Amino acid sequence: MAGSGTATDLALSGLTKVYGTNTAVAGVTLRIGAGEMVALLGPSGCGKTTTLRMIAGLVEPTEGDVLIGGFRVTRIPVHRRNIGMLFQNYALFPHMSVAENVAFGLQMRGLAKAEIRPKVEAALSLVRLGDYADRLPSALSGGQQQRVALARAIVIEPNLLLLDEPLGALDRNLRENMQVEIRQIQKRLGITAVLVTHDQEEALTMADRVVIMRGGKLEQVGTPEQIYSRPASRFVASFIGTSNFLRGNVAGYGGGMLRVSLAAGGQVLVPWPDDGRREVLISVRPEAVALAPLAEGAMPEIGVPATVQQVVYRGQTTHVHMQLADGEPFVAFLPNRVGESAGQSFAAGDKVSASWSPQSNWLVSDA
Ligand SMILES: Nc1ncnc2c1ncn2[C@@H]1O[C@H](COP(=O)(O)OP(=O)(O)OP(=O)(O)O)[C@@H](O)[C@H]1O
Ligand SMILES: [Mg+2]
Repeated sequence: MAGSGTATDLALSGLTKVYGTNTAVAGVTLRIGAGEMVALLGPSGCGKTTTLRMIAGLVEPTEGDVLIGGFRVTRIPVHRRNIGMLFQNYALFPHMSVAENVAFGLQMRGLAKAEIRPKVEAALSLVRLGDYADRLPSALSGGQQQRVALARAIVIEPNLLLLDEPLGALDRNLRENMQVEIRQIQKRLGITAVLVTHDQEEALTMADRVVIMRGGKLEQVGTPEQIYSRPASRFVASFIGTSNFLRGNVAGYGGGMLRVSLAAGGQVLVPWPDDGRREVLISVRPEAVALAPLAEGAMPEIGVPATVQQVVYRGQTTHVHMQLADGEPFVAFLPNRVGESAGQSFAAGDKVSASWSPQSNWLVSDA
């Protein structure tokens, strides 16, 4: 398998699919570098699978183009695109052995037996199933079956690997193992890959870049860290992890920082390149927040006053749920040390000051 399929880049240009009056995918333009893995992430019905199926050639675009390695393949049928596919429903042939399942794509391509055998062996050893070549799929666990499906997808030395919710049928532990395993194999072979998922952890774990889709369009494209810590919109910030949102008015600007008076009382500093804004929406992640007791009626110099509503011990963290003076919810995730719960000094009804470093603030669009 070494030196298989030369890495190929992928470009989508204004890719659109209309079904009757419903636009499933609306003008998606995206470049995916050779050897890169990109995850399409978004809520149900946002157009992820339709986009992937247009890349595969299983769905014909209404408008736009797909370019693989610079070649326009929009009108080229699926079996001539040299794409490996791995879907949730991996449908192995039940009457064929593991090795026969993996060999199938090579036979279809007309390879001789003598060529097929070493390729199948290499693919099976890559997914650590070298000893299972003669078994029937029914004698394998779910995770092993999914690895056979992966071997079948990569044995053809594809230019492109497309994965649509490939691990959805597996239990949590197995899913996490397979995420790491597929990622390692994809990197080792240097295959360009597109992964569709609605599981944010899966996207963050596996992908070089994450694409957030919403209503058939791209909402944000970035590295996992950019998407998480620099979300473009309220939608992205809420879709990836948990976020607190604070409304405020810009009260000053200096040293690259906006000083924002919060609607809920208190103020915070936000690093921002310009002071062109007046009304802002701030996103702050719960794990950035620290809490301190606050005297009745007092106002924190930097931070927001809040009233504790519920303290929930969660093992690694304690979640402190609060309410702000304007009625909005606010939550802090405090790290626990073994034998010492971080939340034990707070109880429902307590007045607290919630604060965090300016670097944890980010302005998002209110949509
Ligand atoms: N063959 C079809 N005919 C008509 N409408 C379709 C067809 N396939 C998909 N759609 C519609 O296109 C939209 C996008 O569907 P798609 O399957 O791409 O969503 P998705 O993001 O993969 O969602 P999920 O996470 O639920 O799999 C949906 O509104 C869906 O109902
Ligand atoms: Mg789908």
